[in-house]
Amino acid sequence: MAQNKTMGKYELGYHITPAKGLLNDPNGLIQFNGVYHVFYQWNQNGTTHTTKSWGHVISDDLIHWVDQPVALEPDQWFDKDGCYSGSAVAFEDKLYLFYTGNVRNEKNERESYQCLAVSKDGVHFEKKGPVIDQPSGYTAHIRDPKVWQNENNEWWMVLGAQKEDLTGDTLIYHSTDLIDWTFKGSLMDQIEDMGFMWECPDLTQFEGKSAFIFSPQGLTVKGDEFNNIYQSGYLTGDFTKAGKFLPDDYPFRELDRGFEFYAPQTFQDSKGRHILFGWMGVMEPEVEAAVPTIQDGWIHNLTIPRELDYANGQLIQRPVVELEKLRQGQPQVLIGKTKESLQLSTLQNELLFNWKEAAGSFAFQIRNEVLVEYNQDSGRIQVTRTNWLTKKRESRAVTLKRPLTQMQGFLESSTLELFINDGEEVFSLRYFQGQEVKTVAVSFCETGKEPEIIIYSLKH
Ligand code: FRU
Repeated sequence: MAQNKTMGKYELGYHITPAKGLLNDPNGLIQFNGVYHVFYQWNQNGTTHTTKSWGHVISDDLIHWVDQPVALEPDQWFDKDGCYSGSAVAFEDKLYLFYTGNVRNEKNERESYQCLAVSKDGVHFEKKGPVIDQPSGYTAHIRDPKVWQNENNEWWMVLGAQKEDLTGDTLIYHSTDLIDWTFKGSLMDQIEDMGFMWECPDLTQFEGKSAFIFSPQGLTVKGDEFNNIYQSGYLTGDFTKAGKFLPDDYPFRELDRGFEFYAPQTFQDSKGRHILFGWMGVMEPEVEAAVPTIQDGWIHNLTIPRELDYANGQLIQRPVVELEKLRQGQPQVLIGKTKESLQLSTLQNELLFNWKEAAGSFAFQIRNEVLVEYNQDSGRIQVTRTNWLTKKRESRAVTLKRPLTQMQGFLESSTLELFINDGEEVFSLRYFQGQEVKTVAVSFCETGKEPEIIIYSLKH
């Protein structure tokens, strides 16, 4: 991704990474005048979470990204300690960015300002300052405005918040001009046991159904669920004209079952697709501090873009079709050779597994590092890797709603994103191997039902 810069042996190709420093949340996702824009939380000056700016890349195809000048820097009284996460909308040929100004006052207490910046060319932004006051009943943990327009050309904003009783919440605001915002209260009635803070809310509307995506902090581990430090997931339901979200009778579901996935944001492109990017970097602080890319002066990446759909009561995520452009030449196709170890010549690969019927139980290993195991009796699929700090093996898992028939994996030098059953579940993770392994060995042992395996080399 980085241009004219060597980023070491874990350099990524088609993932968005920072040229240096630390990247976190995707921000301001939009297609503006035909061009895709991705902004991201960026500490330009180091690989820790200190002061954040908005980094900026653009693309014609969601795959090849070109660095732009930093879009927002913390240089005003209302954002002096960080331009935190937010979103973008286009209105009357201008690009509007809504973001949170993070401020530490003279007593070192947190203050948050929901701010606007406007651009004509999509590159240079003029800050207009705060557009929303701190509401009463909430702490200063209030951030990450996500704005969208409804079919009547009115604007809505959801805002992540913490109530004074230290529970998470999401606020909803309404506007007709993007400048004056009316507070409409909580987006939804309180749900129990949903943590102390909800970050990065996003209301995505499909035909006839809405999905409220958010990143709650402070959930308790429940079996295979909620095992990462923080979670990102969704509720399906209906968004009323009065600005309330009425959830369906389903619990909060994680969007991704892997180790590294947080703060996703969506947008709709000119083809009407809902596209999601997430941050592949949420980690316990000591694990984050040991990420090997820090030696090369950078840390973290975004996920590949995923097309989001609503089907059978749940969200489905599939890699955007543009990723097929990365496929080089003819793929290796393997049928009935699944007990062999496969040597691959590149570090970037797409792996497709198709079973004619449901898969039998199996285990396979990628680069002798990431182990994927499936149990056909329980329907549980588990992904295991080595933790680069503790050197211990660790796993994440989910029980599938229906038998496994298909998997699609995107593999880079230190990332794996594995889409299961046509996007019904996804595992995203980083992995770091001590030695430089130029080849990828996929060894596949299974009991009975052999899949067709198609392996593409990818080139960026
Ligand atoms: C989520 C988050 C946001 C905040 C940003 C700061 O990862 O904590 O709530 O705006 O990161 O970088």
